Amino acid sequence: MNTRLFLSILFGMTCLLSPQAYAGEDGLSILTSRCATCHNLKGPAPTSLKALWQRKGPDLFYAGNKYRHDWLVTWLQKPVRIRPAGMFYRDHIKPGPKHDVVDESTLKPHLRLNKADAMAVADALMTLKAHSNLVASEKLTPAPSPIGEMMFDKIYGCMACHQIEPGFGGMSGPEAYTAGKRLQAPFMLSYIKNPQAWDPKIWMPNKHVPADNIQQLVNYLIDLSKEDFSDEQ
Ligand code: HEC
Ligand code: HEC
Repeated sequence: MNTRLFLSILFGMTCLLSPQAYAGEDGLSILTSRCATCHNLKGPAPTSLKALWQRKGPDLFYAGNKYRHDWLVTWLQKPVRIRPAGMFYRDHIKPGPKHDVVDESTLKPHLRLNKADAMAVADALMTLKAHSNLVASEKLTPAPSPIGEMMFDKIYGCMACHQIEPGFGGMSGPEAYTAGKRLQAPFMLSYIKNPQAWDPKIWMPNKHVPADNIQQLVNYLIDLSKEDFSDEQ
């Protein structure tokens, strides 16, 4: 191979690998090239406990039916922890003086996107619409939830796995105090009704909560996420 040819090939490869090359990429190709190693973009969800425990990131193949677009755009530029003990809590806890504590050294910060890429990726994620049938008939009626918090903390024991403020509640599920900001209401209604319809092996139990009480729980979560917890983190 002559030197000029070699140099022009080298130049071409450098262009492909340089950050500028991403600018022209659309959201779906960013997802496939930079996110698919940890996130399942095509489904189905894990069908064995082993696969569930080895999952590296939350499934995104129904992202369009799960997340709020505005939250995605913000979070992808400035990702903060959502699951206090990572994807599988048993991999990230260690014994403490009184009870198990999170082993922070095992949790890595999430990849961060610039604004243009975050917007392109958020748009692309909203097109991933598996399980539309599960949300089609779900509708939240906004209303006060007089005993929503009591249901969450005591009656159904949701707090055993979900935090209702930073550091307060269980560690094996995603924090509950930001759920209302992150998630679409029909998704929350459907997930609480039957978590295994979304994720067959997930350890969140189906508590067979009556529909009226699910409405209260979701209204409670939405109100909760309007509180400002920033000084407690
Ligand atoms: C090294 C593995 C890894 C890579 C690569 C990765 N993620 Fe993640 N992602 C995670 C983990 C782990 C979480 C859970 C974070 C938490 O709960 O605090 C997560 C959470 C998320 C969430 C929040 C979802 C939820 O339900 O909590 C979104 C959205 C997301 N990632 C999108 C992306 C996108 C888009 C890319 C590519 C640009 C990407 N991720 C690349 C591991 C990864
Ligand atoms: C044994 C632990 C456990 C209990 C009890 C539990 N959950 Fe969960 N919950 C989970 C796990 C695990 C997930 C999904 C994990 C993931 O996406 O990584 C989840 C997911 C959720 C989600 C979606 C959250 C998100 O951020 O993506 C909501 C909403 C939710 N649970 C509400 C509830 C409510 C309401 C109750 C009580 C009726 C409850 N959970 C009881 C473990 C639990």
